[in-house]
Amino acid sequence: MLRAAQKRFFYVRLPMRIGGRAVLYAIPKRRKENDMYILALESSCDETAAAVVQDGRRALSSVVASQVEEHRLYGGVVPEIASRRHAEAVSGVTAQALEQAGISLDAVDAVAVTYAPGLVGALLVGVNFAKGLALSAGKPLIPVHHLRSHVAANYLAHPDLEPPFLCLIVSGGHSHIVRVEDYTCYTVLGRTRDDAAGECYDKAARAMGMPYPGGVQLDRLAPEGNPDAFALPHPRVEGSPYDFSFSGLKTAVVNLLHKAQQKGEEVNRADLAASFQKTAVEVLSGNLLRAAEDTGAKTVVLAGGVSANSGLRARMAEECTRRGLRLFVPPLSLCGDNAAMVGAQAFYEYCAGHTAGMELNACPTMPVEAPAW
Ligand code: KG4
Ligand code: ZN
Repeated sequence: MLRAAQKRFFYVRLPMRIGGRAVLYAIPKRRKENDMYILALESSCDETAAAVVQDGRRALSSVVASQVEEHRLYGGVVPEIASRRHAEAVSGVTAQALEQAGISLDAVDAVAVTYAPGLVGALLVGVNFAKGLALSAGKPLIPVHHLRSHVAANYLAHPDLEPPFLCLIVSGGHSHIVRVEDYTCYTVLGRTRDDAAGECYDKAARAMGMPYPGGVQLDRLAPEGNPDAFALPHPRVEGSPYDFSFSGLKTAVVNLLHKAQQKGEEVNRADLAASFQKTAVEVLSGNLLRAAEDTGAKTVVLAGGVSANSGLRARMAEECTRRGLRLFVPPLSLCGDNAAMVGAQAFYEYCAGHTAGMELNACPTMPVEAPAW
């Protein structure tokens, strides 16, 4: 009886003032019969996250426990530490996400989890925890590809965004230009041949003496410098106009700093950050805009941690306005890893019949266009 009642209701928290005091009231609200509530988990790298998402478009809660302070001590993510911290945090973060959404595990319709790509030990924590929840509560289990979830962060913020569109997915581990034909049908047009964009930002920032993850700090410093102070290489991949190659850009920054150090010369870090930013943004936006032109795309979307980059967002906004393209970018709060985006993509995976059984495993690599489980 209790279970049946829990399934029909969730709680909406309303702030009220009683006798001048602010009080949070939990008001029971009858859930609509056809709405789908997904509890989603994310643990692919160094954020343990859980969220409850309604119909793929509305985040009722989103809780993220970041480990970044600990990994900063080592200058990058230490996989073994990441797995251990996920194991410690996952249950509390999940309880908090349910509590903030005012919903019980019984009342959610499915459990979703990032299962690929990422650090295998880190992914395994989320996958096993999600399997346990799904099995014990008798809910479907939805496996979600991490890069697809970054794209889906945009569905939460932009109700009018629907495929098809062209998307640049740029994170710490991947740089892709994809055509999102439908919510679960992807065609890859370009990818990086070596370092990912975020990795290149972090390595260049590290060489400039910034702590991990340096991408955001380099981005903050760049507006203070002269973007034309240093001529850095714009690596191109011969015969593959949409592919990226970032290792040459990273090496150019490292060599420049090394040579200056050997000569005892000071490098103006703001100028170097500005020159790096200008080059990276030109490469990313150049390939994306070329792909948009060649494929006749009308809608362009940014996704992934590097989509928070101020230079990239500004340049794309300017170019898209000039070219009459619609541009969608995720809000800064949804650019980095979170579970709300997992719940958003999970809704569409579920609608396409993509659920998994208890044999679901974590996969460190997996093509974005052809996930398998
Ligand atoms: O998507 P994400 O949170 O995690 C992965 O899936 O990898 O991306 C993290 C990456 C890091 O390399 C981080 O330095 C970079 O995104 N990043 C940025 C900015 N904010 C985060 N890179 C450049 N500019 C930023 N504002
Ligand atoms: Zn990510």
